Amino acid sequence: MFAAYASKLDADDPLAGLTVGERPEPEVPAGWMTVTVRAAALNHHDLWSLRGVGLDESRLPMILGCDAAGVDEDGNDVVVHAVISDPDWRDDETLDPRRSLLSERHPGTFAQRVAVPRRNLVPKPAGLTFEEAACLPTAWLTAYRMLFTQAQVRPGQTVLVQGAGGGVATALVALGSAAGARMWVTSRDPDGAARILDSGADRLFASGERLPERVDAVMETVGAATWQHSVRSLRPGGTLVVSGATSGYAADTELNRVFFLQLRVLGSTMGTRDELVRLLALCERSGLRPVVHGVLPLEQASDGFAAMDRGDVFGKIVFVPSS
Ligand SMILES: NC(=O)c1ccc[n+]([C@@H]2O[C@H](COP(=O)([O-])OP(=O)(O)OC[C@H]3O[C@@H](n4cnc5c(N)ncnc54)[C@H](OP(=O)(O)O)[C@@H]3O)[C@@H](O)[C@H]2O)c1
Repeated sequence: MFAAYASKLDADDPLAGLTVGERPEPEVPAGWMTVTVRAAALNHHDLWSLRGVGLDESRLPMILGCDAAGVDEDGNDVVVHAVISDPDWRDDETLDPRRSLLSERHPGTFAQRVAVPRRNLVPKPAGLTFEEAACLPTAWLTAYRMLFTQAQVRPGQTVLVQGAGGGVATALVALGSAAGARMWVTSRDPDGAARILDSGADRLFASGERLPERVDAVMETVGAATWQHSVRSLRPGGTLVVSGATSGYAADTELNRVFFLQLRVLGSTMGTRDELVRLLALCERSGLRPVVHGVLPLEQASDGFAAMDRGDVFGKIVFVPSS
């Protein structure tokens, strides 16, 4: 079958290890099922994999991709939950120490077919297209958990999102706005990111710009480049949720502010199957839809990866395999 996969790892030149071509059909262990992929969305995770973060040489070649929507063996339209936990794990899947994401240990979704545990399949709401549904299981699920499970954002609160254009960032703005929060956003390129105002942001600031007032919560995926600004933007007792560090890990911690202002700093990773079910229901009922930067045939996957590597993406890039 046709797939986009990591054939080698290179921390400095991730695109050098991306290959598109034939791979064997997926193996289907007991309790798993094959899904015919109709759409699969690109995440920064896929670039990290090509850099060797979360993926090691011994697992190559590895089909990339966490997100998919497609059709299962019984003909049902489904969305794939990408968090693969131990079969005996009964708690929150994101807390299983042995969990992995599709494409870390098991072949991912950038292929004509993918095998997943049956319990990782969630019905696709009829109102969402395959392309829209494929954007939800990683970026949107992460945003949902950051806002509602971790920060417990309330209607009327003010939330700062660092980095306007990203897949997680655009999801945070859309979801927070739908929940009645006032959403403020920063960008390295505020002119280029002005369209974020159309998707629910109340105000847009340049990265690092002083805010008119302190906020209740900050959503961080950028990391070192924005960390200080995030800590300094919070009101006493405010909450900082971090799920990524695209620009690096090494930043001034501002620990004095963390304890003196009694800030809550919470990590967040992906989300549970139940949270994905609720997210899908929210999108179906509210009419919320992901911002799709572009849809490409899977054969052109390298163009999508290159755009993300350049930081030249607003919303999600979706790949469509030929049937
Ligand atoms: N823990 C989890 O479960 C989880 C889930 C999803 C994603 N993540 C992580 O979260 C991060 C974002 O993921 P994504 O898929 O949304 O990536 P993406 O679509 O490539 O977005 C990158 C974002 O980072 C901003 N940015 C990048 N470099 C920056 C810099 N030097 N200074 C300021 N802003 C910068 C961009 O905003 P502007 O261009 O507007 O400035 C943009 O919002 C990644 O590191 C990813 O691995 C983690």
